Amino acid sequence: MNKRVSLTTQAHHILLNYLNTGDITIDATVGNGHDTLFLARQVGKQGFVFGFDVQQQAIISTKSRLQSEDFIDNVELIHACHSTIEHAIPPQYHGIIKAIMFNLGYLPGGDKRIISKTDSTLAAIQQSITLLAPTGIITITAYPGHSGGELETEIIKQWFEQLSPKHYTRQLIYSSEKITAPRLFIIKKHLS
Ligand SMILES: C[S@@+](CC[C@H](N)C(=O)[O-])C[C@H]1O[C@@H](n2cnc3c(N)ncnc32)[C@H](O)[C@@H]1O
Repeated sequence: MNKRVSLTTQAHHILLNYLNTGDITIDATVGNGHDTLFLARQVGKQGFVFGFDVQQQAIISTKSRLQSEDFIDNVELIHACHSTIEHAIPPQYHGIIKAIMFNLGYLPGGDKRIISKTDSTLAAIQQSITLLAPTGIITITAYPGHSGGELETEIIKQWFEQLSPKHYTRQLIYSSEKITAPRLFIIKKHLS
């Protein structure tokens, strides 16, 4: 794929091959709602999206985006840390979540001091694995270039590398060759 295509767009392209009408999905970092809206569009009115963010501003901005596109009815926005993901997602959806997106870091246009943190990110991605459908997918866009982002990215990489290749297909896409370049971790679960 063309290197100049953003990692977010690449994540969307990959997810397009996975998502079907009626699927249940999670946006673990809703931010300004671009990914939430993308997921809501793909799963349609019969599907559902759960979205998490620690910032009220992100919840409000995403709600307004969804309302203007008439997708508010099949999305639940949860104003909470994504490390509560397993508890917050109703048990009947555990094991059937088709896709979970993480786009880490800070809210673009918002307070850059409020960023995702290594411990809660790791807790959330570990729980996400258990929520996934047998053929589900997780995408994690990580930004080692900002303060705290380097350790967070390294910890994600360590977690990613220890996943069993028997059960998961892993792919790592770099936005450039720079050591601080954002990167996209893709984890595809499969049965055998
Ligand atoms: C890069 S933005 C997400 C962009 C978003 N997906 C979009 O399409 O606009 C990162 C978001 O993660 C949120 N965030 C940071 N730590 C979080 C946490 N522990 N739980 C949930 N959201 C968190 C931030 O508040 C911010 O809104």
